[in-house]
Amino acid sequence: MSPSVQHKAVHRPTLGSAVPDMRRRLEAAGIDSAEQEALWLIEHALALTGLHQIVDRERVLTDPEIAKLHDVATRRVAREPLQYILGTQEFCGLQFEVNPTVLIPRPETELLAHEIIRRLPQGTPPTLMDVGTGSGCLAVTLARSIPQARILATDISTQALETAMRNARRHGVDSSITWLHGDLLGPLRGLGLEGMVHAILANPPYIRESEWAGLQPEVSRYEPRLALVAGPRGTEVHERLLREAVFYLMPGGWLAMEVGEGQSLDLCSKIAAMPDYERVEVVPDEAGINRMVIVRRAR
Ligand SMILES: C[S@@+](CC[C@H](N)C(=O)[O-])C[C@H]1O[C@@H](n2cnc3c(N)ncnc32)[C@H](O)[C@@H]1O
Repeated sequence: MSPSVQHKAVHRPTLGSAVPDMRRRLEAAGIDSAEQEALWLIEHALALTGLHQIVDRERVLTDPEIAKLHDVATRRVAREPLQYILGTQEFCGLQFEVNPTVLIPRPETELLAHEIIRRLPQGTPPTLMDVGTGSGCLAVTLARSIPQARILATDISTQALETAMRNARRHGVDSSITWLHGDLLGPLRGLGLEGMVHAILANPPYIRESEWAGLQPEVSRYEPRLALVAGPRGTEVHERLLREAVFYLMPGGWLAMEVGEGQSLDLCSKIAAMPDYERVEVVPDEAGINRMVIVRRAR
């Protein structure tokens, strides 16, 4: 009698088993919305649609596919932001490339674009300035919303500017935006724009140095510190912008700045002592947090 050969059943992972496997790994790493993120990561890694995940549940995964899923799960478990792994983030209805050289655009920043657009005078093609453009989300949104506008965007990071330019190309507005490298409004010097700008927008760094270490790991390990930390008080960049913007805003022009929770009061008392600004408004975000400080250059 020939010796019997015992074959162990080998269970190869299938598309159907990939979701619970990935979900368990993400849950164990303390990630909220693990099920939803698992679906997005699998779709991204395997270039599938959600429909394939339902229809092809029994399909056995190939070794390269298993390796790709392992790679994205490992990155997310290390708390790399989902958006950097997927490579995009939506802002004002447009998809923007994001990578660790730029801040991931946040939904509350959309308010900055809306508040400025509704204040602009009708008829005249405006000159607008986006300071600290990052991914270019604000400059590109403005260029798409007001095609006749002249838009200038600055950043101190050349890598961020490269990402912003790719986003402008992606949305067909690269020829409407002038990209300038440098410190806040410094790159405007010599361009003859003194007293000519209708509105300056900025979502500047506003985290206090002491807060950095306590931020969630997705932020402190992966997002650029340069984009987030302002100094010991958190309002240092806003204060510089208030001083510099006066030279470039036209009479009646607007400076709109995103601020951190609890910063608007302090900034408003500083603005009250600046006679160059005639009006100050504070706008809350959807969570009721005072999120924008908007000032008007005296006429
Ligand atoms: C909070 S991020 C905002 C990015 C983008 N505008 C957004 O809302 O998603 C701040 C940006 O300002 C840039 N930045 C920081 N300090 C700057 C400075 N002194 N001059 C110009 N840009 C600066 C950073 O590189 C970063 O891209």
